[in-house]
Amino acid sequence: MNGGLNETDLIKTELTRFDGAMIGREAYQNPYFLADLEREVYGALQTRSRHEIAHLMADYAERQNELYGTPVKSITRHILGLFHGESGAKDWKRTLSTLPYEEGAGPDVIMKALESVDKAREKHRIVA
Ligand SMILES: Cc1cc2nc3c(=O)[nH]c(=O)nc-3n(C[C@H](O)[C@H](O)[C@H](O)COP(=O)(O)O)c2cc1C
Repeated sequence: MNGGLNETDLIKTELTRFDGAMIGREAYQNPYFLADLEREVYGALQTRSRHEIAHLMADYAERQNELYGTPVKSITRHILGLFHGESGAKDWKRTLSTLPYEEGAGPDVIMKALESVDKAREKHRIVA
């Protein structure tokens, strides 16, 4: 089954009728949706937080750069949606849409993006 599957309940229902579900756009635009599926469809008791995933992606980017010279922008372009729908999402996206494209950018841009999320959340708390 595929096409427009973007809610865990919908997928759970389809899996009672079909052997599998293929998810395209939602997995790309909102990759943390896969963590929701891990919990709600596969019964995982806990999944990593977005912050933990960001740290793991920075380690991954570092390794890929050491092994293959992969520029960090080739990795960050696929995690622009990590904070989709969350407070600080715009800051994450804005930081990762600019810093990785600067000369000499390294995996630390992911940490900087995370800091921009935290800062935005802090600001929101003060204002709220
Ligand atoms: C970013 C992205 C990557 C995809 N990769 C594959 C793929 O590797 N193999 C495949 O058979 N279909 C792939 N598709 C197609 C989808 O699995 C599927 O046919 C369709 O996009 C599902 O609809 P949805 O985008 O509304 O979830 C991909 C689609 C997207 C948007």
